Amino acid sequence: MVPKISTLSGYLHEQQKSIANPTGFWANIAETFFWRKKWKDVLDWDFNIPKVEWFKNGKLNITENIFERHIFIQGEQKALIWEPNDPDEPNIEYTYNELFSKVKRFANVLRRHSIKKGDRVAIYLPMVPELAIAMLSCARIGAIHSVIFAGFSANALQERINDAKAKILITADQGLRGKKVINLKETADEALRSCPTINSNIVVRRTGGTINWNNEKDVWWHGEMDKVTDESKAETMDSEDPLFILYTSGSTGKPKGVVHTTGGYMVYTAYTFKNVFQYSNGDIYFCAADIGWITGHSYIIYGPLLEGATTIMFEGTPTFPNPSRYWDIINKYQVNQFYTSPTAIRSLIALGEEWIENTEMKSLKVLGTVGEPINEEAWHWYHDHVGKNRCPIVDTWWQTETGGIMISPIAGIIPTKPAFATLPLPGIQPVIMDEAGNKLCGNSVEGSLCIQFPWPGIARTHWNDHQRFKESYFSQFPGYYFTGDGAKRDEDGYYRILGRMDDVINVAGHRLGTAEIENAINEHPLVSESAVVGFQHKIKGQGIYAYVVCNDLPKKDDGEELRNSITKGVSKMISPIAKPDKIQFTHSLPRTRSGKIMRRILKKIAEGKGDYGDISTLTNPEIVEEIIEGNKKIQ
Ligand code: WTA
Repeated sequence: MVPKISTLSGYLHEQQKSIANPTGFWANIAETFFWRKKWKDVLDWDFNIPKVEWFKNGKLNITENIFERHIFIQGEQKALIWEPNDPDEPNIEYTYNELFSKVKRFANVLRRHSIKKGDRVAIYLPMVPELAIAMLSCARIGAIHSVIFAGFSANALQERINDAKAKILITADQGLRGKKVINLKETADEALRSCPTINSNIVVRRTGGTINWNNEKDVWWHGEMDKVTDESKAETMDSEDPLFILYTSGSTGKPKGVVHTTGGYMVYTAYTFKNVFQYSNGDIYFCAADIGWITGHSYIIYGPLLEGATTIMFEGTPTFPNPSRYWDIINKYQVNQFYTSPTAIRSLIALGEEWIENTEMKSLKVLGTVGEPINEEAWHWYHDHVGKNRCPIVDTWWQTETGGIMISPIAGIIPTKPAFATLPLPGIQPVIMDEAGNKLCGNSVEGSLCIQFPWPGIARTHWNDHQRFKESYFSQFPGYYFTGDGAKRDEDGYYRILGRMDDVINVAGHRLGTAEIENAINEHPLVSESAVVGFQHKIKGQGIYAYVVCNDLPKKDDGEELRNSITKGVSKMISPIAKPDKIQFTHSLPRTRSGKIMRRILKKIAEGKGDYGDISTLTNPEIVEEIIEGNKKIQ
């Protein structure tokens, strides 16, 4: 098992060691895993190419490190607890032995469908145990999983399947979230109309609802599981073989397939899980994220299972059947660590204290947040009402591309400060840059957050697009990984994340590219162009504000219909999560002389802030007045 820091001086010591000798530091941690063959070099890297390779030529299988490594000591320990959407439905609990058996079986199903090492498997499932099983089965046979969030539309699913040229899709008849039934199979059918590389579609029966069936491609999960045994050898993987692709949004309209490899990701997720949450043997850990995003990959599945923890997977929502749902789950399973998003916390605050007042939650030891900045009010409520003033909060800053947590308190060890991610974990070397690319030394500085040395969890490339990978993170500050976030280091050396500096917005913890949303809006036949910006939103952190230029601008009173049809279009093209909260029609957009849209001004207007700076450099300064006037009617 990976080493655990237990004191502040221990943290400082590890941090110092990890900077003085990064390769020695990570090699020591990697040694605690099971390798079929040891690596030759710990690290080979050059951020200018960019190239990062950890433990290359080391041979392993991540599932052997989850199952075979733990089975002898704790095969009967619970690995996965699945809590259904409806609390009246029975839950499912798998021990390590039981989960292993399912994983081996499904690995054989995949093999029967001719899936081999290196093939891509698209997974479009709700939060059901089969999702965890499918991911681990891919890892067992060396196939690369690409999990696509079940809230994405047919169009978004199709785009991701085709980009990765996935050979097989795994979906469900329907998904359940609160009172909603989500017709996944129907959406998948629509996507598959134009996915030439998909040979079969394995369907999990979740609800038994009516679905269309395509005899050529569709097979039932349970039917396939009955055809195979649970004997399944693990494929030998190189440390640098891809483990998964996860699509995420960037500054351009096209989602990028972030690629994580095997050895480094394994070492990094296990180490950060154990240390940040101060996991101890026997703890029950509950991360309420969705596995469709990186948080679920790293901190529902891989990190906890690599450390032999019991991880809870929850199908439903925080408010169904009532807003005590999370607290009930915490009491039911005696949860020790709870990890969620600031948006979930804010939405529960808005529903009133009566839902949390009489909850005990005595088992809780650590609380975590992730995905977006947490405001002080939400931080205090979390601390006082959920943690009952006795649980440290770990505000964990990281990204899809970083694989695991980067800057965060170590629970109970690094003193916290509301809204601060505090200090880098051992092995992480953050720097703050000014606009000219100078490293800002010392404390009380603010600028672009970069990382100056690789860590094992860093993404290696974008699927089929290394050039874009380079441009996205390694071109702004040559020799450094640029996170896209702004940050400040305060007088104590603590980091506070200030939010994205690029055209990415973070809505309810979901990362969305403004260009993606604009593309979807522009598909509408009456729209000639659009500009999307984020604005401060009380619950979601950021909301989506769209400025839309129409060929036939709606008259004052008939804009609603057009707004609705634009919104519907965005839902269909991307997902309901990308729907604009506000749409303002305008005759044109403010542009610089080089033709670029001045988003800075649009953002200020959307947020109701004055002081637009110098607008004389615009080709059409007069439009600013019109937009300000129009905005007043939108609020
Ligand atoms: C933001 C989620 C402030 C940040 C794990 C980052 C945060 C983006 C925090 C990545 C935090 C994540 N405080 N902001 N604790 N954690 N972010 O790829 O802007 O979905 O760049 O990964 O979320 O989002 P992603």
